[in-house]
Amino acid sequence: MAQGADRSILVTGGAGFIGSHTVVALAAAGFRPVIIDDFSNSQQRVLDGLRDILGYDVPCYVQDCNDRAILPGLFQRENICGVIHFAAFKAVGESMEEPLRYYRNNLGSLMTLLEVMLETGVSDLIFSSSCTVYGEPETLPVAETAPVQPAASVYGNTKQICEEMLRDTAAAGKPLRCIALRYFNPVGAHPTAKIGELPLGTPNNLVPYITQTAAGIRPQMTIFGDDYPTPDGTCIRDFIHVMDLAEAHVAALRALQQLGADAHSHYDVLNAGTGRGHSVLELVRLFGEASGQRLNYRIGPRRAGDITAVYADVSKIQSQLGWSARRSLREALEDAWRWEEHLKQ
Ligand code: WQD
Repeated sequence: MAQGADRSILVTGGAGFIGSHTVVALAAAGFRPVIIDDFSNSQQRVLDGLRDILGYDVPCYVQDCNDRAILPGLFQRENICGVIHFAAFKAVGESMEEPLRYYRNNLGSLMTLLEVMLETGVSDLIFSSSCTVYGEPETLPVAETAPVQPAASVYGNTKQICEEMLRDTAAAGKPLRCIALRYFNPVGAHPTAKIGELPLGTPNNLVPYITQTAAGIRPQMTIFGDDYPTPDGTCIRDFIHVMDLAEAHVAALRALQQLGADAHSHYDVLNAGTGRGHSVLELVRLFGEASGQRLNYRIGPRRAGDITAVYADVSKIQSQLGWSARRSLREALEDAWRWEEHLKQ
């Protein structure tokens, strides 16, 4: 359990999907999470859900973490000793239509955060990166040593550039100790159904589209292509329960805090996945079993930009953090469905 001064952790984007679940995991591990979120992609109800789960109000600053003026005071007032940085725009399609807005926000917020951290002497940072940096991997499972492919989207490029910024800052000997977690496909919700994935508008991602179809919000879901070179023709992904992913952030933060006092510059990347691939069709069928719902779906054309298959080599995160995903995909789908039903209430 975290004790004393090493407890207050700033969670940027902490009212978002992965951020809010990580707030729960931090509190369960004895940390004191503090949220900063501009609520551009979240709602107040997330804070209500966190209060229901934790039994207290998590301190929350409704601010833009690009705002250089407010961060130093916040770090001081809240005695921040580490940061988990989720705040970013993440819609792949939208990033292609508004590249400058994505570069400004995703790169600018990290640069601002790094400057303030170096200024205030806070050196521990967990960064939210993505498996999209691998593009279509040549070998599977994909390891961290796999080549980073030219980004297929502006969103993916912002993640690649952010990783380079972090790597170069640590390589310059600046007092930054950072682990970048490359997420695979986060799915599911907290088992209490008090928090979950709040897609505002039409969901881009698979599981919220499935649960909204099953709930009757969408008339039908489309499987984007069944002519891929995979066993059942549909794409393969590494779907990781969002609570497993949240706990990976805590394990990574602890690893930074356990680095010796002389390790004042550190940068590493770790795959945050299950190490298992499931096809879209497998997930659709598993959802039917997990929810007892008959899903109305059709097979449609491929979606531009989709890769055939990607799933993680998790040997590095297992050996470095002693962490492994421990929840099943079925459990994630049960939790996702429970959350969708809770949303209707
Ligand atoms: C998964 C599979 C679709 C919707 C995204 C982001 C990536 C990362 C993870 C943040 C694909 C298929 C989907 C639907 C479908 N996020 N699909 N019908 O594209 O693997 O990755 O989330 O870091 O950056 O791009 O996730 O859920 O959109 O798609 O058939 O209605 O489901 O074709 O094969 P993706 P996804």
